[in-house]
Amino acid sequence: MEKDYTAAPDRYQKMDYRRCGRSGIRLPKVSLGLWHNFGSIDRYENYSEIALEAFDAGITHFDLANNYGPEPGSAETNFGRIMRESLGAHRDEMIISTKAGYLMWDGPYGEWGSRKYLMASLDQSLKRMGLEYVDIFYSHRPDPDTPLEETMGAVSDAVKQGKALYAGISNYDDEQTRAAIEILRRNGTPCLIHQEKYSMFVRTAEQGLLDTLGREGVGLIAFSPLAQGMLTDRYLHGIPEDSRAAKPSGFLQLGELTPKRLEQIAALNAIAGQRGQTLAEMALAWLLKDPRVTSVLVGASSVAQLRANLRVLGSPDFTTGELETIEAILA
Ligand SMILES: NC(=O)c1ccc[n+]([C@@H]2O[C@H](COP(=O)([O-])OP(=O)(O)OC[C@H]3O[C@@H](n4cnc5c(N)ncnc54)[C@H](OP(=O)(O)O)[C@@H]3O)[C@@H](O)[C@H]2O)c1
Repeated sequence: MEKDYTAAPDRYQKMDYRRCGRSGIRLPKVSLGLWHNFGSIDRYENYSEIALEAFDAGITHFDLANNYGPEPGSAETNFGRIMRESLGAHRDEMIISTKAGYLMWDGPYGEWGSRKYLMASLDQSLKRMGLEYVDIFYSHRPDPDTPLEETMGAVSDAVKQGKALYAGISNYDDEQTRAAIEILRRNGTPCLIHQEKYSMFVRTAEQGLLDTLGREGVGLIAFSPLAQGMLTDRYLHGIPEDSRAAKPSGFLQLGELTPKRLEQIAALNAIAGQRGQTLAEMALAWLLKDPRVTSVLVGASSVAQLRANLRVLGSPDFTTGELETIEAILA
C-alpha cells in the first residue's frame, strides 16, 4: 500500500509520484534538470527562484552532472549555494543526482568510464555541492574502451561507500543496458534508473530499451522531453533572442529547426490546442502515458516555464484518434 501524504505539507499534494521500476523510490512525475540555466553565466536570483518554486510544487528530484554549467562544475557549485541558503533543511526530502562521463579535467583521467575518473569526479561533485552523499550516481555515458565491469564496479563501490545511495546509467543502448543491469545486480547495487533522451522527436527508447527496463524493473527518466524547447511555443513564430537556439552556450542548434520540424511543431501545437492544453503540456503527457516512464526531466529558464510545464499534471488522457494523428505528424 502506498503511504498517505495527507498530513504532509501542501507541496506533496500538488505532485504525483511514480514508483521507479521495482525499487523503494518514488519520483515526481516532473523532475528538474540543471544542465542549462544554472551555470556561472546565469543569475542566482533567477535560478534559485526556479529551484525553490520546483520544490514548493512537490518536485523532489533535482538532476545534475559534473559538467553542467557553463563553466563545467558551476551548476553543482550554484546548486550547493541553494542548498546552503535555502533547501538544506529539506535534504532528506530530496533526491539529488549527479553523473560522470564527459570531459572535466586535463589528462587521461578526466572523462569516460575508468574507476580513477568516476571516483575522483564524485568526490569533486560532493565537494562542489557541499553534500555528504548524492542519491543517484550515474555513469553518464558508456565507455567503449573501458571494461563495463570496471565502470559499473566504480558506481557500485560509490554506493557501498555511502557516497551515493543508488546506481544509475545514462545514454547506454539496449544491449549495454542489459549488461550493466546484470553487473550492478551481481555487485549487490541494483540499477535504479536509466536516463535517456526521449521525446516525441527522439524515440530510440522505444526500440527495445523501454521493454528491457520494464522487464528488469528499472525506471526510465526521460531527458530533454521538450526537445530542448522545440516542443513548446518557443519557436512557433521565429527564434526569440533569449532562447536556447539563439544562445551561443545553448546546445540546441539552429540547424535542428528545419522547415519540416517547424511544420510538425505547428501541427502538434494545433492538436494540443484542440485538447485544451499547450504543446509543452501535451508533449510531457505523451511521454507519461507509458507507465514505464517514471519521470520527465525538464529544464526551465524561468519560473513561468516551470509552472507551465507542471500543468501536465492535470492533462486529459489521449484518445486513440489523437494518438494516431500525432503518429502521422511524427512519421
Ligand atoms: N543524461 C544526459 O546525457 C542528459 C543530456 C541532456 C539533458 N539531461 C538532463 O535533462 C534535463 C532537461 O534537459 P533539457 O533542458 O534539454 O530539457 P527540455 O525540457 O527538453 O528543454 C528545456 C528548455 O526548453 C525551454 N522550455 C522549457 N519549458 C518551456 C515552456 N513551458 N515554454 C517555452 N519554452 C520552454 C527552455 O529553453 P529556453 O532557454 O529557450 O527558454 C528550457 O531551458 C537537463 O537539465 C539534464 O538534467 C541529461
